[in-house]
Amino acid sequence: MNPTSKIIVALDCDNRAAADAVVERLGEECGFYKVGLELLTAVGPEIVKDLVARGKEVFLDLKLFEIPNSVASAVRVAGSLGVSMVTVHGMGGSSIMSAAVEAARDFPSLRVLALTVVTSMTDADLEDIGVDDAVDRQVLRLARLAQKAGCHGVIASPQDVAALRGALGPGALIVTPGVTLPGGSPAEHARPGTPRAAIDAGASHVVVGRSVTRAADPGAGFRLVRASLAP
Ligand code: C5P
Repeated sequence: MNPTSKIIVALDCDNRAAADAVVERLGEECGFYKVGLELLTAVGPEIVKDLVARGKEVFLDLKLFEIPNSVASAVRVAGSLGVSMVTVHGMGGSSIMSAAVEAARDFPSLRVLALTVVTSMTDADLEDIGVDDAVDRQVLRLARLAQKAGCHGVIASPQDVAALRGALGPGALIVTPGVTLPGGSPAEHARPGTPRAAIDAGASHVVVGRSVTRAADPGAGFRLVRASLAP
């Protein structure tokens, strides 16, 4: 796999023009975009259809946490838009993850990824919501549950990747947001790491947002990330 196919650029924008500007600036270099709740809510599903029509893969980060029937319905709609990845919350338990996986069966290229513990959360945050375990143990618990439910992989912070690769084996997707380039600001990431460290630890993909999209030159930002992953 070449470095480019491991990089997913998060289009975290609140308007279509800003998203289009990033896609234009990155051109053929970037083939995989994440569309999250901000952009989807601002501009609707047309952006997803248009990216797919341009030959881009789309990770639709819906972070589903709903009753199983509603999760399944949303996954079917995501599949019909042509997206490659969709997310469901592991904290929602086996039933919603299984419902998502079942709904995705009609779309052979759709992968269901489980969110374990969002990268901004700490042990203290888990304690606040009544989870006694430390983040690393909760991440592993939810990842195993996700695999048992049939999920194709997980979303994981850089620090959790190595343990997850060991626990889930070589076939699982491990998609890692919360990465910053060396010298970059860790922003609100509680457990940050570099894209290179994440890939070396076993991540299949990294998600980069602001380091690329807010760079003065997004193309240069993307190439910096790509160069950092070169063998
Ligand atoms: O920080 P950055 O702009 O690179 O974030 C890109 C994506 O990573 C965001 O769309 C968000 O979903 C995800 N992220 C995350 N946990 C964080 C910060 C960002 O999962 N703490």
